[in-house]
This record gives sequence, C-alpha cells and structure tokens, in this order.
Amino acid sequence: MPDGDPVPADGSLPDQAYVGMAQRSLSFYLHVPFCATRCGYCDFNTYTAGELGTAASPQSWLDAALTEIDLAAKVLGAAGDQRMASTVFVGGGTPSLVGAGPLSALLDAVRDRFGLAPGAEVTTEANPESTDPELLGQLRAAGYTRLSLGMQSTSRRVLEILDRTHTAGRALDVVGWARSAGFEHVNLDLIYGTPGETDAEFAESLRAAVDSGVDHISAYSLIVEPGTRLARQVRTGLLPMPDDDVLADRYLLADAALTAAEFDWYEVPNWARDESARCRHNLAYWTGGDWWGIGPGAHSHVGGVRWWNVKHPSAYAAALTGQPPMAPAARDHPPADGLRSPGYAREVLDPDARRMEDILLRLRLRDGIEVAGLLPAGREAARAAAADGLLDPDSWTRGRAVLTLRGRLLADGIALQLTD
Ligand SMILES: C[S@@+](CC[C@H](N)C(=O)[O-])C[C@H]1O[C@@H](n2cnc3c(N)ncnc32)[C@H](O)[C@@H]1O
Ligand code: SF4
Repeated sequence: MPDGDPVPADGSLPDQAYVGMAQRSLSFYLHVPFCATRCGYCDFNTYTAGELGTAASPQSWLDAALTEIDLAAKVLGAAGDQRMASTVFVGGGTPSLVGAGPLSALLDAVRDRFGLAPGAEVTTEANPESTDPELLGQLRAAGYTRLSLGMQSTSRRVLEILDRTHTAGRALDVVGWARSAGFEHVNLDLIYGTPGETDAEFAESLRAAVDSGVDHISAYSLIVEPGTRLARQVRTGLLPMPDDDVLADRYLLADAALTAAEFDWYEVPNWARDESARCRHNLAYWTGGDWWGIGPGAHSHVGGVRWWNVKHPSAYAAALTGQPPMAPAARDHPPADGLRSPGYAREVLDPDARRMEDILLRLRLRDGIEVAGLLPAGREAARAAAADGLLDPDSWTRGRAVLTLRGRLLADGIALQLTD
C-alpha cells in the first residue's frame, strides 16, 4: 500500500474533489471484516473471532460504520447539493455472517443520510454456509436487490483445497432461495486454476453455475497472494503453483461455455446475461464514479482523491470514537463536532495519473476506449495491438480499442502500453 499523505482529522476533501461532483454518480462500499474461518488463498482484510479476541466486535464495527456514514454525509454535503446513492455494495469478509440486523441498519443509514436513487442497485456478498431463506427474505425486505455468492467450484476436492466449508449443493440451493425471495440479480463467483483442478472439473462448475439460473458469473483465476497459507503450501512444494498456460486455457474455456449459454463478457472476468445484469457498482469503480468505502481498510475515491481507512477493526472503531489507537490526524487535531475520519492516508491524483488509470480500467471493459483520446505513443501501441489481432477490427474501424478474446488474456500488458 502506498504511503500517501495524511487525511485531515475532519475528513475534509481538497477543492478538486468537489469540481463536477453533481455530474458524477455516488456509490457506497460497506466492508464487513469478519469470517468464520479464513480460506487459505485469501488475503482480504478480514478476521476470525479467534484472531480478533476482545479487541473488536460486530457491535463496535457497526457503531463505527454508522458513524462513518454520518461523516460521509457531512463531508460530501459540504458540496451544497446532496446526491443520492446510485449503488451500494456490502462486501467482505462475510456479510452473511453478521446477519440481517446490521446489514439492514447500514442500508437504512445510507438511505436516511443520502437517499437511494430510483432503481438503485443494492448488493450484498454472501457465503453459502451462512445464508438461508430467512436471511434472504429479511435482506430483500430491507431493500437489497442483488446477491453475490461465493461458490468457487462444484468439485468437492477443489473446495477442500480452497478451505471452503460449504458444499456446491448448498451454493446452488442459495441461488434458488434468492430467486424465491425476489432478488432481481444473482451472481456466482468461481475460482479456476486451483492446484489439481482439471478442465473437466472447471467445465462442470461453469455448467452448474449456468444451470442455476443466475444472471451474472465472475470467474477469477486463483492468485497466490504473498503471506497466505496457500503461498506457504506452494513455497514448500506441498501444492504446485497454478500454471499460466493452464490459467489462460481455463479463461478460454469459461468464455466459450458462457458465450454458448448466452452470457456476454463485459469486463475481463465478468459475464452477464444482459446489460441490466451487469454490476453497476463495479462499473462505477471502472468508469471514474465517486465511491465512499465505509469500514476498516476500505478505500474511497471522490473526484481524483483516493484515501484508505485504518485496517484493523479495533483501530477503525477507536478512530471514529476518539479512543486510542486511532488514525494519526484524528489523534493530533480532533474536530470540533466529534466526527473524526478513520482515514489512514490519501493521495490526490494529478491529471496524468487519472488519464493512465482511466485507460488501465476502461480497456478491460467491453466498451473499450476511444483511440483518439490516447497520446501519440499510445495510439501507435494501439495500432500495433490491432495489427497483432489483440483489438477487435470492427470496433477499430469505429475508432475504439476493444480487446479480442486473445487480447483479454493480455489485458493489463496491452493497457499499460496504451498509457504511453
Ligand atoms: C473476498 S471474497 C468475499 C466474499 C465471500 N466471503 C466469499 O468468500 O465468497 C470475494 C471473492 O474474491 C475472490 N477471491 C478472493 N481471494 C482470491 C484469490 N486469491 N484469487 C482469486 N480469487 C479470489 C473469491 O472468488 C471470492 O468469492
Ligand atoms: S470467506 Fe471469503 S473473505 Fe472470508 S476468508 Fe474466505 S474468501 Fe476470504
């Protein structure tokens, strides 16, 4: 994580964040930092009860998160006209573990302080083992419209290697319960490339996901994150490193199976049945929207200003309640109204950094980017990529750089060349 600059104690933003704000969409990400057990591959900012001890609790996290929503209303309200939230996304960690009460309270607070725009997309992530019909009914009644469920695989062996505690059957049951509860959109997350997984096992996971009736599927290649149990297993030779060629083949397999089932890719690892099923929250991340990340370690972005919160739930709760340990700025200059920022550090992106980030994110989208908007060296690189078959010829004739299937396998490298 880059060092960044200090965040002012009152969380106030530099003037540039407010320029053009009324024209940008506003989203909220709400981070739930708890899991029942930690999966060996995962390095997300999440904690088991044993790891937390008495340092923090779901209640202290919820109280602090509600206070941070008040802080967001104050800081963004300084622009004059209050915007409504277009999308809300509760992620983790395991949101389903904390139950409907806290998830409803958080959404109510966003609704109360900001309002939800008509047709707002309200997603929560969930794990199969902690999700049941009652929870889904309560979340739907509270206003959640979309469920994103971590299925990962249908292979019992793969689920075991990933340390998942649910069966594939349970994940598929949850999809049915979500439909019955009236969720408008349901996503299944899959992971491919787990050591020992076969093509046939991944094909079966894709088939089951398609047949479940969901309208969105994300398929991620397994990343061996440094410091995880999986990384140690690979280092000590207990498990082989996922092979790049195998990962590429699995991506091709995913695209073929999902395209045949009438899903369309719209961002490299994301496929949707139609445009209405695309995740609007993630699209806001990728197209320069404003979002405020509530919760420990959550990241925010408003008008080219990015900041990230203190990571540990106890430091997060302490920062918002004025108890030590807290974020450095809140400790040194406490604000008069008592609303302190849990921001750990921030960075203000200059126009060139924003231009480059825009290319890196948008090239991964089906809509691609306008070639005329690139600098001369970037346009030259795009021309070479098009000649190599990495950009779609039809889109190219319309002046847009859109990745071909082969281009998608090399998306980040190509995007980097286009930033020149
Ligand atoms: C961090 S989890 C949070 C949601 C929920 N706890 C779950 O496990 O499904 C969100 C998704 O990130 C993906 N993910 C996490 N770590 C990953 C890794 N190392 N490689 C690939 N995908 C990963 C998984 O597919 C997971 O469903
Ligand atoms: S349940 Fe999800 S967030 Fe928790 S450790 Fe596993 S992958 Fe990470």
